[in-house]
Amino acid sequence: MSSSYGEKIRLTIFGQSHGEAIGMVLSGLPAGKRLDMDALKRFLRRRAPGRGDYATSRREADEPIFVSGLGDGVTDGKPLTVKILNTNTRSADYRDLKNVPRPGHADYTAAVKFGGYQDAAGGGHFSGRLTAPLCVAGGICRQLLAEAGIGVNGRIAAIAGIRDDSPFAASVAEKDFPVVDEEKGEAMKAAIAAAKEEEDSVGGSVACVVRGIASEDRDFDFDGLKSRLAAMLFAIPAVRSVDFIEAEDGIDFEVVFKPTPSVAGEQRSVDLKEMKETTIRVGGRHDPCIVPRAVPCVEAAAALALYDFLRSSQRGGNE
Ligand SMILES: Cc1cc2nc3c(=O)[nH]c(=O)nc-3n(C[C@H](O)[C@H](O)[C@H](O)COP(=O)(O)O)c2cc1C
Repeated sequence: MSSSYGEKIRLTIFGQSHGEAIGMVLSGLPAGKRLDMDALKRFLRRRAPGRGDYATSRREADEPIFVSGLGDGVTDGKPLTVKILNTNTRSADYRDLKNVPRPGHADYTAAVKFGGYQDAAGGGHFSGRLTAPLCVAGGICRQLLAEAGIGVNGRIAAIAGIRDDSPFAASVAEKDFPVVDEEKGEAMKAAIAAAKEEEDSVGGSVACVVRGIASEDRDFDFDGLKSRLAAMLFAIPAVRSVDFIEAEDGIDFEVVFKPTPSVAGEQRSVDLKEMKETTIRVGGRHDPCIVPRAVPCVEAAAALALYDFLRSSQRGGNE
């Protein structure tokens, strides 16, 4: 349960879903790199809530505020600190969560680990909202990789058992619902709407292609590229498996997401104060399917792991 990641590039994520702000500190970036702010904002918008019926209705601007590490849009070599304000919170929706954990969410784990001192509102630090700062960090690394000719691009591969196995197309990034095959996309949207109607949720997977990696950078050691990618991808909340396929000049992988744990339907749980079985209906606003918003999160996590890996392996070569 570390809040920090990386070797050469060090990322720390802070904040809670219903706190004043969430954010990140990213250190180890080279000085003198001009960041494309418009591209970064477009990237963050792909993850931002409130884009369709299949996502939570919690609207947030997700405007990154650069506090340090950047002068006139250029990195100054010191830690980059970015905060994103939480403006649309409704903590009353979560009043009971402190004592009655949502099955499948991190509420119980956090209660045991932090002995009741955790911020439970909206899932606290374990809310999907904390993927916004991940996307800031990963969005920046993705830009730096692109400069070096390395592309990291994701799309929806499956939702509720409906698969889109079409080859990757660059245009998906522009879409609200990033599928290649529109017909399959409509079927997926219908499955999400049906699950929502039944006060339930559905899972699925994100496919990602990474291109432009030299063969010598794809080693097989304990700390090799796949291990690093897997470690970071599993840090995205709700990820359950990662599947790799070696490609000609890169790597393809698919990341499976479980159905959203918070559903409106009644679930069995336990009252931790009374130590009695009870039931729970989760209020608040939730994604009936995490997958569409998780596409940029997968790209961000992969870009961060890859950028850190490439910087680290430049250090001493393969021993
Ligand atoms: C982009 C994104 C959005 C999410 N939205 C929700 C949500 O609305 N409701 C919810 O219960 N979980 C949501 N989650 C999943 C929880 O954050 C996750 O299940 C929880 O932190 C427990 O982590 P674990 O499932 O990996 O154990 C979301 C995850 C991501 C990546």
